[in-house]
Amino acid sequence: MKIPEKIKQEVSELRRQIDYHNRLYYTQDRPEIPDADYDAMFDRLLFLEREYDLVSPDSPTQRVGGEPLGHFSQVAHELPMLSLDKVFGEQDLIDFDNRLKKRLEDDAGLEYSCEPKVDGVAVSLLYVDGLLQRAATRGDGVTGEDITHNVRTISGIPLKLLGSSLHGRIEVRGEIFLGKAGFARLNKRARKEGSKTFVNPRNTAAGAVRQLDPRKAARIPLEMFCYSVGVVDEVTMPDKLSEVFDLIDSWGLPVNPDRSTEQGIENCQRYCDRLLSKRDKLDYEIDGAVIKVNNRSVQERLGQNARTPRWAMAYKFPAEEKSTRVIDVEFQVGRTGTITPVARLEPVFVGGVTVSNTTLHNMDEVARLGLRIGDTVIIRRAGDVIPKVVKVIDPARNKSPKPIEIPSECPACGSPVEKDGEVLYKCSAGIICPAQRKESIKHFASRGALDVEGLGDKLVEQLVDSGLVKNVDDIFSLTQEQLAGMERMGEKSAANLLQAIEKSKQTTLPRFLYALGIREVGEATAQALTAHYGDLQPIMDASAEDHERVTDVGPIVAGHIETFFRNEENRALIGKLISHGIQWPKVEISTGSQALAGKTYVLTGTLEQMTRNDAKARLLALGAKVAGSVSKNTDCVVAGPGAGSKLSKAEELGIEIIDEGEFLRLLDSLS
Ligand code: IVH
Repeated sequence: MKIPEKIKQEVSELRRQIDYHNRLYYTQDRPEIPDADYDAMFDRLLFLEREYDLVSPDSPTQRVGGEPLGHFSQVAHELPMLSLDKVFGEQDLIDFDNRLKKRLEDDAGLEYSCEPKVDGVAVSLLYVDGLLQRAATRGDGVTGEDITHNVRTISGIPLKLLGSSLHGRIEVRGEIFLGKAGFARLNKRARKEGSKTFVNPRNTAAGAVRQLDPRKAARIPLEMFCYSVGVVDEVTMPDKLSEVFDLIDSWGLPVNPDRSTEQGIENCQRYCDRLLSKRDKLDYEIDGAVIKVNNRSVQERLGQNARTPRWAMAYKFPAEEKSTRVIDVEFQVGRTGTITPVARLEPVFVGGVTVSNTTLHNMDEVARLGLRIGDTVIIRRAGDVIPKVVKVIDPARNKSPKPIEIPSECPACGSPVEKDGEVLYKCSAGIICPAQRKESIKHFASRGALDVEGLGDKLVEQLVDSGLVKNVDDIFSLTQEQLAGMERMGEKSAANLLQAIEKSKQTTLPRFLYALGIREVGEATAQALTAHYGDLQPIMDASAEDHERVTDVGPIVAGHIETFFRNEENRALIGKLISHGIQWPKVEISTGSQALAGKTYVLTGTLEQMTRNDAKARLLALGAKVAGSVSKNTDCVVAGPGAGSKLSKAEELGIEIIDEGEFLRLLDSLS
């Protein structure tokens, strides 16, 4: 078909406009047109592309690709993606500047590029002749994973760079993150749909970037700030980083508007202070600032250490603290009946989230804080840590204090509350208590357990309250009709949920063990049990003494495991679950090489290729011990980005330190 010139022009103009408005909306946060106008342009473009067969891979309509991937392919970084050393205060920053001057044998003040340290995921984007060709995670800095299918769904990242003569390869690096507004929107939607809410923006972004299914990634409104360039073939880059930023900005790539060029380290300190004071007002989470030598030629002269450049430094902010008032204290009944005091707070925005309640852990903690209802308290929150009540301020200010007392009856079922060990209290009813029932079902369906998508907290509560679900196995007997009758559930969501329930039956043994909710058996212990026994039956038959042979299982946990599997009701429940079709692949026990027997490893920093639990399980399977702190008995420390005091201690003690890449190679060579 001969396509009229007018149509071609309209299509190209629509693409240009949509890209332009995407950029205004997603990276500059200043939309110029109403959403409805944008949607109309998008629909028109879709129509024309279909009608005239004009689809092209760089069209904004082609962001979400087709089918999910089966696995990630590896990407080797031609230039390694480095990490950053970090400092915590003014003097450390001055020392950093002095070190650089000494190395350069020049006392003249240095020019720095100061940038917010965005809390997200480091990625590399590769453009070839101006077209986005590949996106990869940082991985261990040397090898990452191909995440192009997900990055294409991020509206703020251009599929095609602006500018006509961009030939050859241009690699741009930066941080993909989820803004505070996007995170709030996402959780609002999750609450409305009754599905599980997301814990924090960083983890949500990391999870979205590593999705195999781009349609799932596309649901998360990810953003990016670019902060450096990697391989560049033909385009001449300016010497100053600040000018590199301006150049990549002109190509339509998102750069952080809160960056600044500063003369001398004192001005960098002032920048950090300013940034800290406006931290709350930023629309994205930061955990500090990054101070970089601005001249790339000077950067080159300074060079790098093993994993970090000498010319850059992360300036980490302290954990954030805010004051607020304790309106009330309620008692929550957990999965195993433990009764926990929870403070209801006047909502306060701290460390990037609004906190309106927080656990007080136990009554000893309440006593230690000297807390009463109505008190004003300091709340601290760092990174993704649960907010913590640090102390009571000015207790005399509380004119009508109310003491906090443990109830004598379970707030959920009215059964007597009894003491459980030194500091805990428990509902005496066991699994007939509806609160315990609800919590154990929520746990069973949670992400680390059977991961039943769509079975959120609200729905579990409805299902238990309506009597449809009493025990976890009842979820496998739910029908379309029953589910569609629940609040906020339509035919379609009921069908989706049934499908998700069916899918959850194909699981792994560690997930199943964790889902059972055995006291003190977390994901790592479930992995260790699997690696040790290989299958469920031997775990069910073993004694506490046997369990103690599993690495990292002490006498108390071993006792809990034995008690759980001796209990007839639990054995019957397992039988029912298996007869519903729950199954997992058999695991080979690594009886062979216990190549790391007698060795003690410590894991520190962030691992990017595997979870810490997986790393731990792999080490345990090879006979190694995994310790929580570095001592002279440590044989090796696996250090990922963000490693802090454990890494310094290992360096001090002269202990072998390896990064994630070396660790993976070691595991491969031994298994
Ligand atoms: S520069 C050679 N700039 O921090 C230096 N990193 O701890 C490489 N990050 O892996 C990094 N904001 O994920 C740089 N403005 C920024 C950053 C930034 C966040 C992250 C990045 C990196 C980690 C290092």
